[in-house]
Amino acid sequence: MTTFETFQSAAIAMADRAGVMGREFREASGPVAETEAMTAAMAHKDGALLLLGKPGSGKTLAATRRLLRPICNPANWLFCNGGWQYRRFIATDPRRTGELIWRTARSLARIQQYDQDTVEELFSARLLVLDDLGQEYLDKNGFLASLIDEIVTERHRRELPTLLTSNTTPAEFTERYGHRVLDRIVDTGRMVACDGDSLRRKPATDRPLPALITEALVAARIDEQEADRARQHREWRQREDAREASAREAQQARAAARAEPKPVDVPMTEAEVAARKAKITADLEAWAAKNPGASA
Ligand SMILES: Nc1ncnc2c1ncn2[C@@H]1O[C@H](COP(=O)(O)OP(=O)(O)OP(=O)(O)O)[C@@H](O)[C@H]1O
Ligand SMILES: [Mg+2]
Repeated sequence: MTTFETFQSAAIAMADRAGVMGREFREASGPVAETEAMTAAMAHKDGALLLLGKPGSGKTLAATRRLLRPICNPANWLFCNGGWQYRRFIATDPRRTGELIWRTARSLARIQQYDQDTVEELFSARLLVLDDLGQEYLDKNGFLASLIDEIVTERHRRELPTLLTSNTTPAEFTERYGHRVLDRIVDTGRMVACDGDSLRRKPATDRPLPALITEALVAARIDEQEADRARQHREWRQREDAREASAREAQQARAAARAEPKPVDVPMTEAEVAARKAKITADLEAWAAKNPGASA
């Protein structure tokens, strides 16, 4: 397998964990035309984005592509020991340790009211896509509608993006989930009605977006990482050289201190010795003269 193929497999496995099927992955990671849904999804950062529109207007593909974008970006992966590892690029923010999650509204309807772990996963996902709202069974107690409301509100509070798609009209959406949910989405994000002329699929030749994964991007990532490793090695070598040089200097200074010459006794000349003796004798005589009774 080439490094490109191993990258593709790693990205597909990660997308699968997020909830994106193989077919959807292939469709969304290939080159696609830019539609209104695509433009809205790509521009979307924080808060909630609701894509409403007729069947086939490209909402699911746009949302899937938005979710796959970080997964298919080689800059978020590290190639080491022959394998690819996904780097959690926002793991430093404790509110954003969650995963990328793609779920259909039908699967959301199966969540039990007391399943707090699953609900917390939906609250904390780095990016959450809820696809095909309107196709699921709504319980009589309104649990699902209030769960969607809670998800939108809580994720807005945590500054995390949520993408919702539905092929209902705004009026049908309001009727189904209540004013509160739509108001919350509009308050905390944006609703894009992908209907009318602007929604018509443009020909694939019209402003095609580049494929999400390309061999060139993966190769460039490996080059970038190798250059990075070489730079880190160079910097480490420089630090080591500097450390060794300063240790050597310190050792030389210690050796020099040990070898410093001791003061040498300079012998007196004979004349100096004689003069010294004469001075001592004279001093003794002077003292004896001053102290006649005492013996020196
Ligand atoms: N931007 C695009 N470029 C090329 N083909 C696209 C694009 N968007 C969607 N398609 C094609 O159109 C088909 C329908 O798109 P998609 O499933 O995303 O629509 P949808 O709005 O989610 O429909 P529904 O409301 O029925 O779920 C897809 O199978 C895909 O191949
Ligand atoms: Mg769809």
